Amino acid sequence: MKKKILIIIILCVFLMSGCINNKKEKNNNTSSNNSVVLYFSATGTTKSIAKKIATKANSDLIEIIPKDKYKKEDLNYNSDCRANKEQNNPDARPEIKNKIDISKYDVIYLGYPIWWGTNPKIILTLLDKYDLKDKIIIPFCTSGSTDITTSINDLRDYNPNLDIKDGKRFAANASDYEIKDFIEKSKIDINSKDKEINKMKVIINDNEYIINLENNSAAKKLVELSPLEVEMAELNGNEKYIYLNDGFPVDSYKPGHIEQGDVMLFDTSCLVIFYKSFDTSYSYTKIGHIDNLQDLGKESVKVKFEKN
Ligand SMILES: Cc1cc2nc3c(=O)[nH]c(=O)nc-3n(C[C@H](O)[C@H](O)[C@H](O)COP(=O)(O)O)c2cc1C
Repeated sequence: MKKKILIIIILCVFLMSGCINNKKEKNNNTSSNNSVVLYFSATGTTKSIAKKIATKANSDLIEIIPKDKYKKEDLNYNSDCRANKEQNNPDARPEIKNKIDISKYDVIYLGYPIWWGTNPKIILTLLDKYDLKDKIIIPFCTSGSTDITTSINDLRDYNPNLDIKDGKRFAANASDYEIKDFIEKSKIDINSKDKEINKMKVIINDNEYIINLENNSAAKKLVELSPLEVEMAELNGNEKYIYLNDGFPVDSYKPGHIEQGDVMLFDTSCLVIFYKSFDTSYSYTKIGHIDNLQDLGKESVKVKFEKN
């Protein structure tokens, strides 16, 4: 009899674990855009909004859990509480307890409460610890009344290589309509950005070409700066170059070989179009490639970069 009960219990546990696994898989499979809602919440307000966004956006949901949980007295901002101390200390990086696997996501809805006008320091811990460079980050926050803009500017300043969208602040009692509207707007943002960064137009001395862009921040920066009209100087019988005023996000490497038509960034602000192939020992950040680029001759050239 005892044996029978034991078998039934084991069977139930087995079936239940199967159900749980299936449920998680189903949730992942139905994610429409490889997105995750990744959030920190000290008292549950951001958590509640995060859950609603995840449901409506069909996204996965991951909490950023602090190693030392914030107790009530840690959040009493009228005192010299832990949260205040952290916000006032530029070096504070509260530890994150859980390991977060963001590798499979292209889009991250990043949620946090506003603390003293900006993001809690644990969000900087996240940015330090995880490589979010090729992700589209859509921030959202909850707060008593403070808007999200300052926190977004702070995050962009903290890591200019990240693609951080404008995002939205929610009140604790945000309506379903507001949440749906936020998701719809962010989807337009995601799709249009994808198209935009794929290709751009370049006109060199009245001849029109297409640059097939790399999927990196330097290429995005060139798109952002466009339309851009410049005179590019001749160098070495194989390249035209110009030093731009703006610094670019750099992801340099030694390509070993340059192909005719490569568009590269040398250092942080020197934009180069190569019109001959050759071997090189220099480091560059690749921006893209122009197919069928002709020999550009010995003189400087007038170049116009335009959004496609
Ligand atoms: C230390 C601390 C500082 C805060 N600073 C602000 C602030 O500058 N502006 C604001 O509108 N709300 C501020 N708040 C309120 C929180 O942003 C708000 O209660 C938020 O919804 C809490 O989210 P949570 O429950 O997910 O932690 C602060 C709260 C704390 C604990």
